[in-house]
Amino acid sequence: MRNIPAILIADDDAQALGVLEQILRGQGYAVSAYHDGVSACEAIFEEKPDVIIIDNFMPGMSGTEVCRQVKLHRETRMIPVIMLTGYARSREKLDAIEAGVDDFLDKPFKVIELTTRIKSLLRVKRMNEELDSAERVIFALAGAIEAKDAYTQGHTERVSQLALKMGRFLELSEEDQNALYKGGILHDIGKIAIPDAILNKPGRLTEEELITFRTHPDRGERICKPLHSIKSALSVIRSHHERLDGSGYPDRLSGSQIPVIARIMAIVDIYDGLTSARSYRAALPQGQAFSILEEEAAHGWWDTAILAEFKRIVMVPQKRLLFV
Ligand SMILES: [Fe+2]
Repeated sequence: MRNIPAILIADDDAQALGVLEQILRGQGYAVSAYHDGVSACEAIFEEKPDVIIIDNFMPGMSGTEVCRQVKLHRETRMIPVIMLTGYARSREKLDAIEAGVDDFLDKPFKVIELTTRIKSLLRVKRMNEELDSAERVIFALAGAIEAKDAYTQGHTERVSQLALKMGRFLELSEEDQNALYKGGILHDIGKIAIPDAILNKPGRLTEEELITFRTHPDRGERICKPLHSIKSALSVIRSHHERLDGSGYPDRLSGSQIPVIARIMAIVDIYDGLTSARSYRAALPQGQAFSILEEEAAHGWWDTAILAEFKRIVMVPQKRLLFV
């Protein structure tokens, strides 16, 4: 957040807008003011203000619609929105709440009410931004784990890109796509707690070593759990080794108990492993990797529909794809 918080205000009532601007400047905030919803909306994506104060009833685009756009996009969704309400009926207020408005201020408002609300929303925004910095640390940690093994370098980035591509192709929600991207980077972060002697063992693991190795999804979930911004990826981290027939780990989930995003990650993770070189074998060609995956899917491990879609987006030349 900037040293001097930036507040974007919008109201088609020029006089009310002028008064609000004067009050906020008097409080030491940087202010940009707009007379209509459309130009306010454009400016929000350009300026990324720290707080938005917006009137609901404006020609062209209502405050509720502006708020909906703000909350729909990843880069602006954390910006708090205060809505100015004059004679808003409860239905309109409910619509605004549904669109994601963080707080309301009745017109005419008291200056102390306005500044108290702004301060409290700025505090929440700052806390969220600090969480995001914590997220950066976790991502750096994931990179450090990967860097330890020459054979897995680039694995998490490839997996997250492929998983995200699948999410887009299947037209999953933005939250799920986000979970696939972050989950791709973080799915094996729990390996930090697994001894190198097990991770890098060239031969087969003993039963005891296997039990230890299989704790990595649970450990990964526990590492990432405190971070609000990674919440949607937790199921990917925990369940990327589950199998449809219930023979996976750590929870032996089966069928629809396994979230779709975790089923996608399982397939993408294995595919990248098969098509990358390992210390004990060369990278397999795409066709051979899919033969193995299809055999395993027929055996009841993987989601055949997801695997078929994945094969389409990986095997078909990029230019023929519509959604990637
Ligand atoms: Fe894993």
